[in-house]
This record gives sequence, structure tokens and C-alpha cells, in this order.
Amino acid sequence: MIEPISLGSWPTPVESAPRLGKRLGLDALWFKRDDLSGLGGGGNKVRKLEYTCAQAVQSGADTVITSGGPQSNHARLTAAAAARLGLRCVLVLAGTDREHRGNLLLDDLAGAEIRWAGDTPLAEAVEKEDGFVIPFGGSNPTSIAGYAACARELKAQVGDFDAVVVALGSGGTMAGLVAELGPERVVGVDTGAVGDPAATVSALLGGAVAAGDLRIDRGQVGAGYAALTDAVRDALALAARTEGIFLDPTYTGRALASLIAGGHGDRIVFLHTGGLPGLFGHPGYGTRATAP
Ligand SMILES: Cc1ncc(COP(=O)(O)O)c(C=O)c1O
Repeated sequence: MIEPISLGSWPTPVESAPRLGKRLGLDALWFKRDDLSGLGGGGNKVRKLEYTCAQAVQSGADTVITSGGPQSNHARLTAAAAARLGLRCVLVLAGTDREHRGNLLLDDLAGAEIRWAGDTPLAEAVEKEDGFVIPFGGSNPTSIAGYAACARELKAQVGDFDAVVVALGSGGTMAGLVAELGPERVVGVDTGAVGDPAATVSALLGGAVAAGDLRIDRGQVGAGYAALTDAVRDALALAARTEGIFLDPTYTGRALASLIAGGHGDRIVFLHTGGLPGLFGHPGYGTRATAP
């Protein structure tokens, strides 16, 4: 067992969302505000970084390296965590240099060194760097404990709910929730980040839950990871206009689109995993003409 390093503010709040819940025909809807987790603009990655950064510090490393897409929230929060811990941070990002907006702007501000992978596969580009490698999305069998802790918070804050609905990327967030709540009470909404999300989540749980027993909605991926869909545009507008809550186009927007499509239960916790900076870096947003 590794002792996590404290980086966030816990427990995060739970808020009732009656106007949105009514619009969706639910008996009850709550937002678990992990977007308000404190460090570096907040988001779900903070709970996992408390473990992966502890692993880095324990290894004696002075540099952490991680990888992701250009608008990776995990990269931004790794940069923020490294700054707070006095570690050097190298971010290996997919593609080539682009305008430093959204998360990229924040990566810069936090002093991260950005390497563009270009045509090289991310894993290969990461191997060229020297330091402690924090896995893609921050998910490993140790860091999922951060989301088992979140599930315990939820049991104390809400208690009686049918399911938690959460965006699924590298899988650690869902895996940690399932570890504490069981597979029936967690719905993961695939964002297209990994090829086989069920196998990924099951592997993070060490096979303790079979891939086939997990509840995963693959119906919101659309044209692929980070591609905007009409359902996502509608979801972003609906959350903002009923509850004053802003979601992101890659993760939480897909999770709400899945909740709007229905079938997950009557008493729902929506896990707000953050990601708002990505909205300001997404090519599909930024002008009135592209607004929903
Ligand atoms: C805002 C946001 N929500 C959800 C996720 C998915 O979390 P996980 O990678 O643990 O599946 C991510 C991952 O990048 C994210 O940035």
C-alpha cells in the first residue's frame, strides 16, 4: 500500500440538480462536483495523481513524464501537481505544435516542458524521456484507490442512488468506483479514448470484475475521441441552462448525453469530472456561429 500525497480538497461537494433532473424525468439527480477538486483548475485526475505522484516521489525521481492528447486534462493536472511538489514535468502530446489555448495554455503556465510526438506513437515518444512515467490518463491498479475513496464519499453524502454515471477514458475513474460500489451501480460512458474500455477497466481491477459484467455505454462515441456530436452540444447547453453547470465537449458532455438518452435508473449521481479548459481549446467552440 502506498500513502497518497495530499493534492486536492476532499470531500468534494454534492449538489442536487432538480431542474435538470425534472427535464430528464428522473426521481432525483445529484452532481458530484469532482470538477471542484482544488488543484490546477480541478477535475478527476487529482485523486489519481495523489497516488501516482506518491509513487514518483517514492522512486526518488525529480521528473515526471506523462502523455495524452493536446487538450489532455490529465497532462494539465500532472503539470500542476509537479509544480506543487517541486518536480520537473515533461508532457508528451500527440500531434504537432498548435495554438496554446485551453489546457495547453495552462500546461505552459505551470512550467511543463511540452514535446510533440508528431508521427511517433505516444508510448514510443515517452520512452525517449528520462524520469518517472505516469501512465496515460493517470490510471493504474494503485491510483484507482482514489475513486474508491470518492465512492465512499458518495455513500456518506447521498446514500440511496441507483447509479453513478461517469465518462470513461483511460478507465481508472470507473474502476475505482466499481471497486467500492460494485458493477451494477456504475455506468461508464465511453469517450473513444481506448479501444476496448470494458477490458481496460476489468484489467485495472485485476480481473476481479469480468468485462461482461460492467455497464458501459458505447453509444456516444460518434466520429471518435473528442469529435463533437449534436448530442454533446445539446448536453452542454442543457446543463448550463438548467443548472448553471458547464461541462466539457470530450468527456462530461458525452456522459450527460448518455444520461439524456436514458435507461440508467431513476436516482442518479452524475460525476462531474471537470475538463472545462478543454472547451476553450476545442476547435468546435469559440465563435457564436458554432454555438449550439
Ligand atoms: C474531464 C475528464 N473526465 C473523465 C475522464 C476519464 O477518466 P478516466 O481516464 O479515469 O477514465 C477524463 C480523462 O482524461 C477527463 O479528463
